[in-house]
Amino acid sequence: MSNTFGQLFRVTTWGESHGGGVGAVVDGCPPRIELSEADLQSDLDRRRPGQSRIVTPRKESDTVQILSGVFEGKTLGTPISLWVKNEDARSEAYSEMAEKFRPSHADFTYQAKYGIRSWPGGGRSSARETVGRVAAGAIAKKLLRERFGVEVLAYVKQVQRLTAAVDPETVKAADIEANIVRCPDATAAVKMIRLIEKVRKNGDTVGGIVEGVARGVPPGWGEPVFDRLEADLAKAMLSLPASKGFDIGSGFGGVLLTGTQHNDAFRAKGGQVYTTTNRSGGIQGGISNGQTIYFRVAFKPVATVMVEQETVDVRFQNTTLKGRGRHDPCVLPRAVPIVEAMTALVLADHALRQQAQCG
Ligand SMILES: Cc1cc2nc3c(=O)[nH]c(=O)nc-3n(C[C@H](O)[C@H](O)[C@H](O)COP(=O)(O)O)c2cc1C
Repeated sequence: MSNTFGQLFRVTTWGESHGGGVGAVVDGCPPRIELSEADLQSDLDRRRPGQSRIVTPRKESDTVQILSGVFEGKTLGTPISLWVKNEDARSEAYSEMAEKFRPSHADFTYQAKYGIRSWPGGGRSSARETVGRVAAGAIAKKLLRERFGVEVLAYVKQVQRLTAAVDPETVKAADIEANIVRCPDATAAVKMIRLIEKVRKNGDTVGGIVEGVARGVPPGWGEPVFDRLEADLAKAMLSLPASKGFDIGSGFGGVLLTGTQHNDAFRAKGGQVYTTTNRSGGIQGGISNGQTIYFRVAFKPVATVMVEQETVDVRFQNTTLKGRGRHDPCVLPRAVPIVEAMTALVLADHALRQQAQCG
């Protein structure tokens, strides 16, 4: 029953795609942080459906309400409850899903596990669940920025075979937001948008890679064994719908190098230790080393395609199904704020854990 994430900065998300709404409860947020709905809304707007011609046209304002945990504009240290109403829930488009399992979606596995499922829009397996993560993540981002000087960013690094050239050390939020695909390499962005539009016209979907970055994390955050910082980041990212892979620093590419080529040499300047390269991705032994943390998350081409495919119905009879309703041809642009949110939730939790144990 794992709808809760984190140890000290704990987030529980709730809600289904076509129910009364979606949201989160954040427990363990430190008191006296200035917080209003406006602090959360900008990230929710970046995740919102209907924001551009390359995402799902579902019309949701995703306006957030803070129901508890904030008084006179400041966090109280008590649970913060966040609610976003579902406004454009049209179950009719999904009526066939009551009877048939969408290939490579969660219909069959939810039915196998619970023996019941909220079939409109995929219920809890819908990416609407991530509204709660993004709202909670915006609080974590604020905590990290204001109390620890940590900046969290993500951007689209790759769509299918189209790869962007981006430097995680210098990339700016404004460059990420400069185009609708959220790729700071403007030339690659134009090609990516063209590809997504083409794929959508064909009723198909396409996947890619989001790169996540955290700058300003001090040395010492993380744990040495099971809760290694990269292990918690991996879990956070692989808990996202449609994510299929995670690698950090040199990642899978590191296997092409020898140890001599791969090592990050230590140097010291002005009483500070740094490394001349950053193949470790800012984490060594499960603990941050003070360098920029950067990692990649692979998202699949999502399941709902407007093409007839073979499947099975709830009576286990062979049948076919063609996607209907409003869907994302590529989740990457909307996945960017979600990856940022999960990164911030992991780091906020480890920041508080570091303070609690080591002061
Ligand atoms: C931002 C975002 C938007 C998504 N939009 C869709 C969609 O429109 N159609 C779809 O079939 N899946 C979509 N998904 C993916 C499904 O939620 C996901 O495939 C499903 O929960 C099954 O999980 P799995 O793919 O991780 O196995 C989206 C995922 C994300 C992160």
